[in-house]
Amino acid sequence: MFSVSCVLFVGLGVFFVIQPLSFLVFQETYVETSYLCGVNFIKIGMSYNLLKGKKGIIFGALNEQSIAWKVAEKAVEEGATITLSNTPVAVRMGEVSALAEKLHCEVIPADATSVEDLENVFKRSMEVLGGPVDFVLHSIGMSPNVRKKRTYDDLDYDMLSKTLDISAVSFHKMIQAAKKLGAIADYGSILALSYVAAQRTFYGYNDMADAKALLESIARSFGYIYGREHHVRVNTISQSPTMTTAGSGVKGMDKLFDFANRMSPLGNASADECADYCIVMFSDLTRKVTMQNLYHDGGFSSVGMSLRAMATYEKGLDEYKDANGNIIYG
Ligand SMILES: NC(=O)c1ccc[n+]([C@@H]2O[C@H](COP(=O)([O-])OP(=O)(O)OC[C@H]3O[C@@H](n4cnc5c(N)ncnc54)[C@H](O)[C@@H]3O)[C@@H](O)[C@H]2O)c1
Repeated sequence: MFSVSCVLFVGLGVFFVIQPLSFLVFQETYVETSYLCGVNFIKIGMSYNLLKGKKGIIFGALNEQSIAWKVAEKAVEEGATITLSNTPVAVRMGEVSALAEKLHCEVIPADATSVEDLENVFKRSMEVLGGPVDFVLHSIGMSPNVRKKRTYDDLDYDMLSKTLDISAVSFHKMIQAAKKLGAIADYGSILALSYVAAQRTFYGYNDMADAKALLESIARSFGYIYGREHHVRVNTISQSPTMTTAGSGVKGMDKLFDFANRMSPLGNASADECADYCIVMFSDLTRKVTMQNLYHDGGFSSVGMSLRAMATYEKGLDEYKDANGNIIYG
């Protein structure tokens, strides 16, 4: 009787110890499986294979904040093979090599104002990628006048030439070089990034506004020729203020960012969201969209005044007056 009780007692003990353990094992397996499924699900959810088999060149990825950085990541995620390009200094000093390593692609240094450098990018890209490319992103902008804090009524004209050359004419040089080399496949897509200051005046945007107006005009003029001859489309995306290295150079950027956010019914578009739009523009879903300036700004460009912006404006009416009460226009 004693030994039967002992066996029962030990047996029950073993059961109560093992049972929770088996639950733990089950739970772990379940978590592991659902985790794996989750990863698969997330991957499937994020990638649509929109650029499967396509080749492209991304100009202008400097660091993780760069819009071009996000576009490069998403292009590869969507099935494209790419090359990257930036200035020799940016390649030496910046983080673009780390991005190239991560995406298993080559970086080809080029100053976008040099036709020779640009030709080299297209030739080398065709070698590396195995033929003409399907898409190109121009994500390049810089104003020496903005950097040196020269105001629009005191521009240095040599600097203005540089602003226009780097931020706009480089787009023409890029497309012309590509076309002459046959470096863009028929039905390809070329994109540059613009800003609404091309249409309307924004305090502090300075000579970059002129550069963006020229950039958008180049997209139209070259879009006509390239579309007619090779079905290649050329567009610009007009992006919300975005906190990047170039963006932070604009005077009063934090206030501009906040203002645009309050004005836009959908809020400012982020760099990630801009990248999504670029991918759609590179894909076959937009084969008849060309010569357009496409606003990607949460609705900002169509709003005159929003309640949220007005409410903030009312709080600070006297903020920009000098000691004598005169309004400072900036
Ligand atoms: N950040 C914003 O608020 C905003 C809004 C609308 C449009 N954009 C435009 O988006 C584009 C990308 O800018 P970003 O905001 O990602 O900033 P960013 O500073 O990350 O990118 C600018 C890039 O231009 C490159 N560049 C400068 N001079 C060059 C040259 N001579 N040759 C080749 N490359 C050169 C820089 O190295 C850098 O990679 C720019 O055209 C910018 O005007 C930016």
